[in-house]
Amino acid sequence: MATNIGILLLLIVASSLAQAAQHVVPWMIPTTQGSSFYSNLLAKTTFNLNDILVFNYTTGTHNVVTLSKDDFKDCSVKNKMETFEVGPTMIKLNRTGEYYFACAFPAHCSLGQKLSVNVMASSSSPEAAPAVAPSSPASRLSVAATFSVLLMLIAINILF
Ligand SMILES: *[C@@H]1O[C@H](CO)[C@@H](O)[C@H](O)[C@H]1NC(C)=O
Ligand SMILES: *[C@@H]1O[C@H](CO)[C@@H](O)[C@H](O)[C@H]1NC(C)=O
Repeated sequence: MATNIGILLLLIVASSLAQAAQHVVPWMIPTTQGSSFYSNLLAKTTFNLNDILVFNYTTGTHNVVTLSKDDFKDCSVKNKMETFEVGPTMIKLNRTGEYYFACAFPAHCSLGQKLSVNVMASSSSPEAAPAVAPSSPASRLSVAATFSVLLMLIAINILF
């Protein structure tokens, strides 16, 4: 009985770790806070590898381009690397590190329609992460938590 409960608990822990999150952002020229709008909006959001970022907008009113760090800072949207023009745009965050997004419509970026995200290695998909990916404190914490649940369950199984 204890073993069954243990397996069940482990499955619950494992499936919650494996869940890739979807983050929806309203994609528009911010009406308040200018270029701080998106960083404030997402200040408490953790982006893990393989999460999906959804830019919610109507096709033709905005687009989404990816930029280098310097071009992002200067809103040099003409140097765009990729362009997505169909809203809503869903982007799978399939690598760790910084992503820089902006809208390439005239003046939209300089009015604050720009967003950078820092993607952390997720403990749930180590095989997808680069070999030298730095592990975030959060994922180390969850590994530690999983491990202590495991130890607890072994102890329970020995007792009963
Ligand atoms: C996208 O934006 C529209 C219009 O503002 C809104 O009605 C809709 O709920 C949004 N979709 C999501 C997934 O947030
Ligand atoms: C991530 O996805 C993009 C677009 O699908 C692809 O071009 C790129 O090679 C992928 N990167 C990695 C690290 O898998």
